[in-house]
This record gives sequence, structure tokens and C-alpha cells, in this order.
Amino acid sequence: MKKVNITIVGGGSTYTPALLDTLVRYQDQVSIDNLVLFDTDEARQREVGDFAEVLFKERYSSVNSIKCTTNIEEAFSDTDFILMQIRSGGLEMRKHDEKVPLSHGVVGQETCGPGGFSYGMRTLKDFIEIIKEIRRQSPEAWIINYSNPAAIVAEATKREFPNDQRLINICDMPIGIMDAFSNILGVSRKQLSPRYFGLNHFGWFTNLYDQEGNDRLPEIKEYLKHDAILPTEKAMSDDSWKKTFEQLAQMTNDFDGPVPNTYLQYYLYPKKIVKESDPHHTRADQVIAGREKEVFSMISAVKQKNSTEGIEISSGVHGDYIVDLMTAIINNRNDLFIIMVENKGVIENLPSEAMVEVPCLVNSHNIEPLRVGPIDTFYKGLIENQYAYEKLTVDAFYNNSYDAALKALTLNRTVVDADLAKSILNDLIEANNDTWPKLN
Ligand code: NAD
Ligand code: G6P
Ligand code: MN
Repeated sequence: MKKVNITIVGGGSTYTPALLDTLVRYQDQVSIDNLVLFDTDEARQREVGDFAEVLFKERYSSVNSIKCTTNIEEAFSDTDFILMQIRSGGLEMRKHDEKVPLSHGVVGQETCGPGGFSYGMRTLKDFIEIIKEIRRQSPEAWIINYSNPAAIVAEATKREFPNDQRLINICDMPIGIMDAFSNILGVSRKQLSPRYFGLNHFGWFTNLYDQEGNDRLPEIKEYLKHDAILPTEKAMSDDSWKKTFEQLAQMTNDFDGPVPNTYLQYYLYPKKIVKESDPHHTRADQVIAGREKEVFSMISAVKQKNSTEGIEISSGVHGDYIVDLMTAIINNRNDLFIIMVENKGVIENLPSEAMVEVPCLVNSHNIEPLRVGPIDTFYKGLIENQYAYEKLTVDAFYNNSYDAALKALTLNRTVVDADLAKSILNDLIEANNDTWPKLN
């Protein structure tokens, strides 16, 4: 088997230990030569790096080297795969993304509404700089990006790197949802083949085929008439994720048609979401007290014991999805993944240039989207509105345009009112200070 060099950008991410664990579990499918962790936060990354040393020494000793670096110029030479999960501004800035809109009675979510706008404006500069450096050092490497807000990142990278066929933007929410569906159906997720359309965090399942070719989505819809479907992922076992999944039942029953992604709740029921949110304690606070704390205490335990023996490293669909995608590329497998790609007629009645999220066949030379065809008026209207918001957000970034920013926020379904959009925007400018481009 050909050995590959992998760089993880956001080496200190809360998701990196689980991703490393997945790489260990998949070593018969992906053989790693050299592994690099790159992060701007040295202390944070060193913790994860120490964990990697113990884990690999114990369970994957054929890996030639593991290197941690904060020097971008050392991170990407001779790399085959770059896996990206950065959070510009960290969880501390995520608090503002969530709390500023909520202080105006508007949905406060890291990727949806003004929160996603705020996070996007912060992320793009960092993100584009990293991709430019990657391409300088390793023009042929595959870049698999998870960093949010993925919809905004995907729209910007399409504009900045229009001919880059090896830059892939993905999200694990559709498969996180499929995992929960597969649990209900008693069929393993990998035996289910989804049909799905939309934008990132803004899409719908139309079918879910099993290996015999039967569509099992009607069973899911029937189930949702009487019962809630809960997340199966360990990473989504807390109350706020359970609540999010519970809302799937109402969303599916209120409208005839496809089954929505859980993220649609923020756009379809914004009033309810705001009412149920605590503007002083949001998801960022929960993640700091939950996932982040758990991951770094797990690392301490591993370091203390100098072994991973008996210590649970919670991995799940997140890492599996990335590594499955890598192996589909390496082994030219033509497997199906839901990925963000330029529409170009895949969804017939949407703009050609929109970055849509649809099932694609992945092999060693291409990402080939499956045709969706035309979609119904309700979905078309929602998506066109949301895509216009995404485009204007990226326009605001590139043109330093206050006007485009105001238009973006006014268009967003979670805001609508222009005065409200203006107040939120002004507060976000203050909160983000010089981490945003200056808007004129
Ligand atoms: P985190 O803050 O724990 O980790 C992010 C890491 O990125 C930190 O160690 C930070 O220092 C580093 N970082 C920030 N800016 C950087 C830069 N310019 N260069 C290099 N490193 C940088 O965040 P997290 O909760 O682990 O999430 C990481 C990212 O993955 C987020 O963007 C999150 O939204 C995303 N994510 C996406 C999906 C998806 O479905 N697309 C799923 C899970 C996580
Ligand atoms: C899902 C989404 C991601 C998001 C993640 C974690 O997997 O698809 O985009 O980053 O959830 O969200 P959390 O609120 O737990 O940080
Ligand atoms: Mn996502």
C-alpha cells in the first residue's frame, strides 16, 4: 500500500484526538508515513501532540514521524492530504457570535443567521491564507475542509480558487442524521445510500435507499409521526443536541415532502428557538464546559498513564467520514458522499454558481455530483434566499462593504428587519474588532 503524508490543520482542535483514533483504526486502509499537526496555539496543540505520541507508539508504530508545528512554512511540504478544522477566534469569539444576536432577540447560532455571518467574516482571511500557503508548498495535495461556517468558506474558496479540483468542503451533519435514522431502521449507515439536496446546514433528504434498492425514508417519516429520533453520536449526547433532534419531528410533520437537516430549525422556527435560548449561556459555554473539558481531561489521563489502555477516546462519524473520504480517493472507490460542490445544473432550477450540498461519487480523479433535477417552489424559494445571503456575506468580505453586510443580514430569514439587521451588525463590528476586515 502506498504510504501517505497527512497534515491536520487545527491540530489542537477538540476533534483531533478522535480523528487520530480513527486513523489508527483505519491503518489497514490508509498507511501513514509522516503526520504533521499545525495550529497557531502552541500549548493547545502540544497537548494533542503528546496524546498522539502515546496513541501511535502503542497502536500504530509503523508511522515514521509525528511533528507538531506552529510555523505555516513547515506545515505543508510534501503533503498528500490536508485535513482542516480551524476555529478562527476560538470558542471565546463563538460566544459573541451567539450572544450578540440573542441580545437583539434573534437566533444566536455559530453557523446560522448573524452568528454564522460573524464567524464567516472572521474565518475567511485565515482560511484563504492557509490554502494559498498549502498550494505554494503542495499543489497536488487533497484538502478536506471541515472548518465552519462551511457554506461561507465554500462560497469564498470557489471564488478565490476556481480551478482547484482538490479542495473539498464537507459537513458531518447529514451523516450524523443518517446514523440516527440507521439506528431506527436497524440497518448500518454505510448500507444506506442517501439522496439529498440543499446548501450546507440548509438541506433535505429525499430518499434513503438500502442495499436492495428500497427507499426507507417513508419509514422514517412514519416513525417521526409518533416518536422523536434521537442522536446516536456520543458527541451529540448532550441535552441541546437531543432537543435539536427532537425538533426534527415537527419540521418533518409540518410540511409535506423531504426530511430536513436539523439546522433548518433555526430558519423555520426562529421565534421558538430564541424563546428557548438563554442569552447568557449559549452553546459555546456548553462546549467549553463539555466537549473541550472532556477532551483535554482525557488527554491528561492518557499522558499520566502513558497509555490509552482503558481510556475512552470518543470517536464517531466525524472522523470516520473524513477518513472514509480519504480512502475513497486513495482506492478509487466511487463511494457516495454528501459534499459541497458548484451547482452547474445539478439542481436544475437553482443558480449554476451556487455552492450546493449534494451526494457525489468520489474516486481518485474526481468528485462527481449525482443529478438532483428540479426542486419544488418552497425549497427553491428558501434556498435562493439563503444563497443570496451567503453570496452577499462573501461580497462584504471581499469588498469591505458595509452595504453588502447589511443586505446579507436583512435577507437572512432569522433577521428580516433592516433596522434590526443594522443594530446587530454594528454590535458585531464592535465585538469582532480587528478580526474582521474593516467595513466601509
Ligand atoms: P477548537 O477551537 O477546539 O479547535 C480549533 C483549533 O484551530 C484550535 O486549536 C485553534 O488554535 C486552531 N486555529 C484557529 N485558527 C487557526 C489558524 N488560522 N491556523 C491554524 N490553526 C488555527 O474548535 P472545535 O470545536 O474543535 O472545531 C474546529 C472546527 O471544526 C470548527 O470550525 C468547527 O465548526 C468545525 N467542525 C465542522 C464540522 C462540520 O460539519 N463541517 C463538524 C465538526 C467541527
Ligand atoms: C455538527 C455540524 C458541525 C458543527 C458540529 C458541532 O456536526 O455539522 O458543523 O461544528 O455539529 O457543533 P457543537 O455545537 O457541538 O460545537
Ligand atoms: Mn456542519
